[in-house]
Amino acid sequence: MGLWLYIFIVVLGGLRFQGTAAVRSFSIDYKNNCFLKDGNKFRYISGSIHYFRIPPIYWKDRLLKMYMSGLNAVQIYVPWNYHEPMPGIYNFSGDRNLEGFLGLVAQLGLLVILRPGPYICAEWDMGGLPSWLLAEPNIILRTSDPGFLQAVNKWLSVLLPKIKPHLYQNGGNIISIQVENEYGSYYACDYDYMRHLLAVFRLYLGKEIVLFTTDGLKESELLCGTLQDLYATVDFGSEINETRAFEQQRLVEPRGPLVNSEYYTGWLDYWGEPHSMKNTTVVTNGLQKILELGANVNMYMFQGGTNFGYWSGADYKDKYYPITTSYDYDAPLSEAGDPTEKLYAIRTIIGKFQLVPAGPMPPPTPKFSYGYVSLPLCVAFLDILSLLSPGLPFHSSFPLTFEALMQTHGFMLYRTVLPDDILQPVLLSVLENGIHDLAYVLLNGKYKGTLERDRVNAINITGQLGDSLDLLVESMGHINFGANNSDFKGLTHNLTLGSTILSDWLIYPLDIDSAVAQQWPPYVPRSNSTTGPAFYTGAFKTPGINYDTYVKFPGWSKGQIWINGFNLGRFWPVRGPQQTLFVPGFLLNTSVLNTIVVLELQNAPSSPKVLFLDRPVLNASSFSLKDMK
Ligand SMILES: *[C@@H]1O[C@H](CO)[C@@H](O)[C@H](O)[C@H]1NC(C)=O
Ligand SMILES: *[C@@H]1O[C@H](CO)[C@@H](O)[C@H](O)[C@H]1NC(C)=O
Ligand SMILES: *[C@@H]1O[C@H](CO)[C@@H](O)[C@H](O)[C@H]1NC(C)=O
Ligand SMILES: *[C@@H]1O[C@H](CO)[C@@H](O)[C@H](O)[C@H]1NC(C)=O
Ligand SMILES: *[C@@H]1O[C@H](CO)[C@@H](O)[C@H](O)[C@H]1NC(C)=O
Ligand SMILES: *[C@@H]1O[C@H](CO)[C@@H](O)[C@H](O)[C@H]1NC(C)=O
Ligand SMILES: *[C@@H]1O[C@H](CO)[C@@H](O)[C@H](O)[C@H]1NC(C)=O
Ligand SMILES: *[C@@H]1O[C@H](CO)[C@@H](O)[C@H](O)[C@H]1NC(C)=O
Ligand SMILES: *[C@@H]1O[C@H](CO)[C@@H](O)[C@H](O)[C@H]1NC(C)=O
Repeated sequence: MGLWLYIFIVVLGGLRFQGTAAVRSFSIDYKNNCFLKDGNKFRYISGSIHYFRIPPIYWKDRLLKMYMSGLNAVQIYVPWNYHEPMPGIYNFSGDRNLEGFLGLVAQLGLLVILRPGPYICAEWDMGGLPSWLLAEPNIILRTSDPGFLQAVNKWLSVLLPKIKPHLYQNGGNIISIQVENEYGSYYACDYDYMRHLLAVFRLYLGKEIVLFTTDGLKESELLCGTLQDLYATVDFGSEINETRAFEQQRLVEPRGPLVNSEYYTGWLDYWGEPHSMKNTTVVTNGLQKILELGANVNMYMFQGGTNFGYWSGADYKDKYYPITTSYDYDAPLSEAGDPTEKLYAIRTIIGKFQLVPAGPMPPPTPKFSYGYVSLPLCVAFLDILSLLSPGLPFHSSFPLTFEALMQTHGFMLYRTVLPDDILQPVLLSVLENGIHDLAYVLLNGKYKGTLERDRVNAINITGQLGDSLDLLVESMGHINFGANNSDFKGLTHNLTLGSTILSDWLIYPLDIDSAVAQQWPPYVPRSNSTTGPAFYTGAFKTPGINYDTYVKFPGWSKGQIWINGFNLGRFWPVRGPQQTLFVPGFLLNTSVLNTIVVLELQNAPSSPKVLFLDRPVLNASSFSLKDMK
């Protein structure tokens, strides 16, 4: 192109940009019950996606598919504990590059509805709150408790200034921001806390940005979750009559746009419960009705993704229910980011109400069955304790929690000795259900059984005075929803043998991930053990490809798996329903051997191997709750 033409276009482009920048606005039109974008009536059709559940290399691909589905916005949570892993230590790089993610969303022309908490639920460890808050055990989370507010203030003073340039008014793409999350479902009902948050958000973000709340439909929820000057929205799924649902929103927000901030496309899975599915027709019928009512909607989730590592949370209902590693959610984009039949059906509905981009949807990515890989190298857990816990153990008369020792997740080892000869079986048990959440019991290094929160409170043991007693205690994720998020991990109460309280403990914080990533395989004698906590290592070469795959655990019980040092998450095939873990292809190296490390906590198969399949199995077939007890 000619130079003058080029300059003309650049200048024109610059003028146009300035022109639109001057009128960039996003607000609520109470008179006409809608949002206004740049002064025009606007409705969003949005989908939830969690950057923290998707490897960054795939962010753009997933967002493109959301754009191609006809969405004009995405809804994003920000997990505080992911970005401030230790007090005052912040991380916004790599997987945690929030602004990088926001930039990609903007590139694709999508708007953002941001939900920065500080509490987010999200089926994420402790609902996004850092568990180090519980180092002060009397802290009252999600209230105006000064200890809590101080930590919140500090976090928001780091986070919100990063957000500000991304606001729509400031040339970015964030149109609205949620304050807290379903606060009406929390017992505290502390208006001072919500008022404080409102003031802090306004302080850092200015007075223009639309701030809102989201709550369930019950009147008590709407009473405690809403606040003057925060626009009240609701959340509900396809089983609810949409007209009546929005009547509930109208009780607290008589005028303004109708908004369902979480319309459920699927649902989460718990270990030990059947796999959740939501019928596509039912989901699309509900979506159509919401859109016919002129409402704004966010679909939760549009892509679920994966709870890698130790990040999955747990719910507390009648008992403790940990959430699975997969967060597939039966969402329109699968865990691997592939369009499903549900996605196409949703796109068809959206197409009845607004323009859907022309052009093809990117197809599913190829998957590959790499087959069986044997893991011949076995090392007993206790044989490498010094590698897993390089510092000195803590000495304490009675057990201390993870939080008291500033360990945020994973495992800790509690060691003592038997105070007497025990010739007849005696119950080893924990008071007040104080196993949080699983404890693998070893006597002189031999596996004796597993204690489990709310399920297995005691086992019988025999032994001799001075025998070494070890409890390897596993956190299955801090409770993310319910009346009480103060969910301490480890041994939260005393352990008794018969009627004797055991004392004089050595407590080893464990950093298994660093050992696996840096010092593997360890140079210690191999073990033959197939019961009790042990690491199993093997390696495989790919046939020159690194397609996504799914790893299955034939004959294994319960544990954790790393591939090339990356922690894929928990497996628990004997509990189900999830049988395979998603292995994103980018982890696999096509030119060198890929190392697999499996930590099995209970019983390994006699010939240890894993199986790589080209499809997920999330719904165990031989599934029966009775078998679980
Ligand atoms: C921040 O997080 C990234 C990605 O998870 C990780 O690779 C990096 O080591 C972390 N940085 C620090 C300073 O901990
Ligand atoms: C939903 O509720 C509205 C208002 O109460 C009612 O008119 C309508 O019939 C209901 N729809 C269904 C499918 O039950
Ligand atoms: C989904 O729901 C529709 C409408 O209720 C029903 O006709 C269909 O059989 C259901 N599909 C499945 C797989 O259950
Ligand atoms: C422990 O042993 C006693 C006596 O042998 C038995 O009655 C009891 O059921 C056992 N309890 C457990 C939890 O195994
Ligand atoms: C929450 O749980 C902690 C520890 O179990 C307990 O100390 C606290 O009293 C509980 N708070 C509420 C409001 O139930
Ligand atoms: C454990 O028992 C000791 C001695 O009775 C008691 O002082 C301590 O408070 C108990 N710890 C817990 C967590 O209950
Ligand atoms: C493992 O088994 C082999 C043969 O069965 C035996 O020679 C070896 O001593 C055992 N090693 C350990 C650590 O028990
Ligand atoms: C594969 O391994 C080689 C040799 O260690 C390394 O240079 C390369 O970066 C690795 N590639 C990937 C994708 O990890
Ligand atoms: C599990 O899901 C797969 C794939 O959708 C399906 O083919 C299979 O029948 C399901 N199995 C059970 C037991 O529901």
